[in-house]
Amino acid sequence: MRITVFDIQAMKESGQRIAMLTAYDHPSAALAERAQVPMLLVGDSLGMVVHGADTTLPVTLDDMIRHARAVVRGSSRALVVADLPFLTYATEADAIASARRVMQEAGVQALKLEGGVSIAPTVRRLTELGVPVMGHLGLTPQAQHTLGLRVQARQAEAARRLVEDALALQDAGAFALVLELVPAPLAEAVTQRLRIPVIGIGAGAGCDGQVQVWHDLLGLLPGKSPRHAKRYADIGAAIEDAVRAYVDDVQSGAFPTAAQSSSMDPDELSRALEG
Ligand code: KIV
Repeated sequence: MRITVFDIQAMKESGQRIAMLTAYDHPSAALAERAQVPMLLVGDSLGMVVHGADTTLPVTLDDMIRHARAVVRGSSRALVVADLPFLTYATEADAIASARRVMQEAGVQALKLEGGVSIAPTVRRLTELGVPVMGHLGLTPQAQHTLGLRVQARQAEAARRLVEDALALQDAGAFALVLELVPAPLAEAVTQRLRIPVIGIGAGAGCDGQVQVWHDLLGLLPGKSPRHAKRYADIGAAIEDAVRAYVDDVQSGAFPTAAQSSSMDPDELSRALEG
């Protein structure tokens, strides 16, 4: 049985902190689930960390569906949430058509949409139609060209608007909310004010849960991790060492050995090669 949005909400009620992690393919989903991650996010960050784009903007519905389907297949217990990509929910009709495709073709259990008051009517409509929606406020990367890639809502007016946006999303039926790159005291105040779980990324320890990007957590990308990320392993370095050892073995002839090869009856071989 999969974890439901009600289970996630019950975690807030019982004071259990929620660990959410992105996953983009079958192996990452299976490993995260074995590690008991209750909620997986097929984020449009996949455009950057998997496809090498500079922003999340080029991600298409087809990209999301293909990756989300693999994550659903790789998991059986986690609640799988997928992002609706840039401008695929600009109108209510677009949102419904996009939601139908991702829910039906990928089989995810919920969708995440970026935006506040302005998308609340869409969130309400999707929820009425049976689509659980997770909101996303603060730094919303699909708006990075208008917002910049920096901590949001540091000033009173912007912070007040963020609280309004959060309440509007909750009133519209969002089952949970992501707060990205928001000052910790503001994120904590929003978390206390909302009934629904607030999942932070770069928003401090006062949220109901945290979300991290798979590649940041595991050190899969070269270079420095973002400040809000904690690297729990250096798998990238382990992969590089392993691949280097493989290349060396091929070059030296140490790989393959008889253990990785199949034998053949010598008579069969000479019959095949004669004449
Ligand atoms: O796309 C994504 O991975 C996200 C998280 C960073 C919250 O939206």
